[in-house]
Amino acid sequence: MNLDFNGRTVLVVGGAGYVGSVLTSRLLDAGARVRVLDQLIYDNGFSLQHLLDRERITFLRGDLRDPEVFARAASGADDVALLASLVGDPVCKKYPELARQVNADGARRIIDDLDALGVQRFVFTSTCSNYGIHDPASFAREDSELNPQSRYAQTKIEVEQYLLERATRMQTSSTVLRIATAYGLSPRMRFDLTVSQFAWELASGAELLVYDAETWRPYCHVRDIAKAIMTALMAPPEMVRAEVFNVGDNTQQFTKRMIVEEVQKHVTSTKVTYRDGDTDPRNYRVSFDKISDRLGFQMDHRVPDYIGALTAAVQAGVFPDVRGNPRYGNYEVRHLG
Ligand SMILES: NC(=O)c1ccc[n+]([C@@H]2O[C@H](COP(=O)([O-])OP(=O)(O)OC[C@H]3O[C@@H](n4cnc5c(N)ncnc54)[C@H](O)[C@@H]3O)[C@@H](O)[C@H]2O)c1
Repeated sequence: MNLDFNGRTVLVVGGAGYVGSVLTSRLLDAGARVRVLDQLIYDNGFSLQHLLDRERITFLRGDLRDPEVFARAASGADDVALLASLVGDPVCKKYPELARQVNADGARRIIDDLDALGVQRFVFTSTCSNYGIHDPASFAREDSELNPQSRYAQTKIEVEQYLLERATRMQTSSTVLRIATAYGLSPRMRFDLTVSQFAWELASGAELLVYDAETWRPYCHVRDIAKAIMTALMAPPEMVRAEVFNVGDNTQQFTKRMIVEEVQKHVTSTKVTYRDGDTDPRNYRVSFDKISDRLGFQMDHRVPDYIGALTAAVQAGVFPDVRGNPRYGNYEVRHLG
């Protein structure tokens, strides 16, 4: 797929986040004019500091729930990628009303406004967590039954359904991406995600407590997530309009125990305790055939290749003071009334 964005203006809502800051950078490199709308709810403006003097970037601080703010950000944009939300179940549980207002009501209102604003392409970033519990003996496909186990996934499914009910009648070509759990380095790191959390804990000599070691999950590098979003924005509309694509790779699915074993190839610490019965029962493997067959999407990264780089960085002191630090995870919302 040609990913040359010269001449296109892309609005990234949530462009200062873990995935968004990587997407923003890739879009600039691909020639796009990029607008970022982000409320910096975790004080995470540092993620864009190195990009703000690049040509073709405009940053707008604001709340997507405000229709005027969104209209200002989107007017004249060719494409909109919606990434902003309260991401992950812990933060959605901690702020249930905000999660409803931002993830569900806010996203629906944005969808309602797309046609009137003349937006040509829209990508909604959803999650493979929507499959929840799915017998890992078979791979969940885009048309498999959804089985959400969290408030976070419920809000994502509500928006997916709202969008898909309208997408064939909309002028804007709209696509849902159900993305695997992210890993990889980003200007806004998140150590509240399995691969990076396990690698950080073991590389810093801490004791790692792992619940439900045999549960499966697919993983996708942040740079590959950015590539998938760009692929969906660039594909001919007839291939992506009103379509759902899982984003990941069939080979990049691991149990938690397998991730621990990968990390242990790079660290000497063996302080791991396994327990059953966590509050997060998710367990699923996913088929990524559709995005590869129809859009030719291939990932450039593999989980095992990342772990060595991260553990070396942690051991070199690149990431001190990570535990519970809002800079490094979605622990505490600081700016959202
Ligand atoms: N990280 C993952 O493992 C993963 C996996 C699957 C899908 N996704 C999806 O990818 C997207 C991005 O995830 P992420 O990990 O980068 O999350 P993140 O929490 O790092 O980033 C979210 C960004 O949205 C902004 N934001 C939140 N509420 C806002 C509001 N009301 N108005 C304006 N900005 C607001 C935040 O300030 C933050 O910069 C989400 O839609 C998420 O559901 C992520």
